[in-house]
Amino acid sequence: MESETAPLSSDREFWEGRYREEDPSSPSPGPSPAFTALMEDPTLVPPTTGTRRALELACGRGGDALWLAARGWRVTAVDISEQALTTLNERARRTGLADRLRTRHHDLALSLPEPKAWDLVYANYFHTLADIDRDTILRQVSESVTEGGLLIVIDHGSSAPWSWEQCQDHPTPEELWRSLDLGGDWSPLVCERRSRTAQGPEGRTARVIDNVVVAGHNA
Ligand SMILES: C[S@@+](CC[C@H](N)C(=O)[O-])C[C@H]1O[C@@H](n2cnc3c(N)ncnc32)[C@H](O)[C@@H]1O
Repeated sequence: MESETAPLSSDREFWEGRYREEDPSSPSPGPSPAFTALMEDPTLVPPTTGTRRALELACGRGGDALWLAARGWRVTAVDISEQALTTLNERARRTGLADRLRTRHHDLALSLPEPKAWDLVYANYFHTLADIDRDTILRQVSESVTEGGLLIVIDHGSSAPWSWEQCQDHPTPEELWRSLDLGGDWSPLVCERRSRTAQGPEGRTARVIDNVVVAGHNA
């Protein structure tokens, strides 16, 4: 794992604390169903035999990054929490995916990963308590997406009852699209609310909404 030398921010303390407190015997998170549904849609992601590169922002323990790497993608996964990245690197080693996955430690409010020709940049539930300019981060990082490539942002459109973030006023997907303000080189391919059953602690379940935005970089 490579790490930038940023000062310890309250955002970092919060997330390190959450990942350290996790029960090590709890199952590792799988990929987000909203994300896999998009990636399995051939109208958005046509099959190819070539190498594809993806950048994940705020990857956490990396269920999505591992899922993509297992499908042949070269994935760079970024998070503010060293604990989460250590867990992800261990999972990649255990599953034989370490050669397809790199982790980078960044507080994205302070520094961004090195630009590369990404076929996909994505952020799934990049929510945090700190007041960071997430739109600007997403806009800047998406500048290095290749023509024909995608930016995917999946946000909570409702709060699960067990969530640390209880919010009654989630922005709509249309508001999310507008706030990204990507410019004329980008088109909205998906901009919608999608419902799913979320699995919580102790076997709890709840219907929740995901706000899904997929932007295509015009070829
Ligand atoms: C709600 S979790 C989502 C994690 C993962 N993407 C998922 O879907 O399970 C939010 C993630 O954002 C990361 N994060 C919060 N603030 C960040 C920042 N300033 N820079 C980089 N990562 C950050 C946290 O460490 C955490 O892993």
